[in-house]
Amino acid sequence: MEPHQVICTTRLEHRREELEREHGVKATLDNRAAIEAADVVLIALKPQVLLHVVGELGDAFNPDQTVISVAAGTTTAAIQDAIPGEVPVVRVMTNTPVQVDAAMSVVSAGTHAKDADLELAEAILSHVGSVIRMGEEHLNAVTALSGSGPAYFFLLAEAMIDAGILLGLPRDVSTELIVQTMVGSAKMLRESGTHPVQLREMVTSPGGTTISAIRELESARVRAAFLDAIEAAKLRGEELAAGGR
Ligand SMILES: NC(=O)c1ccc[n+]([C@@H]2O[C@H](COP(=O)([O-])OP(=O)(O)OC[C@H]3O[C@@H](n4cnc5c(N)ncnc54)[C@H](OP(=O)(O)O)[C@@H]3O)[C@@H](O)[C@H]2O)c1
Repeated sequence: MEPHQVICTTRLEHRREELEREHGVKATLDNRAAIEAADVVLIALKPQVLLHVVGELGDAFNPDQTVISVAAGTTTAAIQDAIPGEVPVVRVMTNTPVQVDAAMSVVSAGTHAKDADLELAEAILSHVGSVIRMGEEHLNAVTALSGSGPAYFFLLAEAMIDAGILLGLPRDVSTELIVQTMVGSAKMLRESGTHPVQLREMVTSPGGTTISAIRELESARVRAAFLDAIEAAKLRGEELAAGGR
């Protein structure tokens, strides 16, 4: 697909001009015209406004289209209720590494979405990272794990960089050491197919430095804190999906 085959919508004229200039797409302020002209409608509105905007445009959709929503926490059932007819809806949970084409995206089918709709969503998202398919009942868990996941890794990176500074290393050196160590460890985990416990044991020699650090992490209950934190994120996702604030 070429950029000129994509129509983006925005509420702002200066943004419309910018989208056309910078990305070579067509851009419009007219959501209805854009939906009526499209085979695939990708919705990336904030969850708080999505149902209102889609509700006003409901009759512009048709059952031959595929509607893909990336809004966190908005269910396919809620979107289907806002659109008349049996329009296929696919829900996506992605994450911020989408900005560097390294997203982890999970796609779930709504009631009217068929295999072809999921395949279409997967084909689009595979350009910006990895994609897997899961039942929508798992999406709050997915959100807590890979949706919020980058924040946990950034917090870990920040703490480890600070540790380097505590030990007297310059900030830029400490940052380089930690970023490359994170990238290398992730690559090794993926490419070796080995369980993380075994990879950790490879750097944990008896009476050595790593086991001294691990004793501290275990006494601080870091492992239990991750289990509690990710469970709390899932519970919060369920509250928000149920209309909580
Ligand atoms: N950040 C993440 O990691 C992440 C992960 C998964 C899912 N998501 C989901 O992605 C969605 C977008 O998040 P974001 O952080 O990118 O939000 P954002 O920057 O506020 O983007 C929202 C977009 O919606 C447009 N918009 C708002 N009202 C509109 C209207 N009536 N007609 C046409 N366009 C309209 C805005 O365009 P103008 O201002 O130009 O009108 C803006 O580009 C959210 O639903 C979020 O839950 C985010």
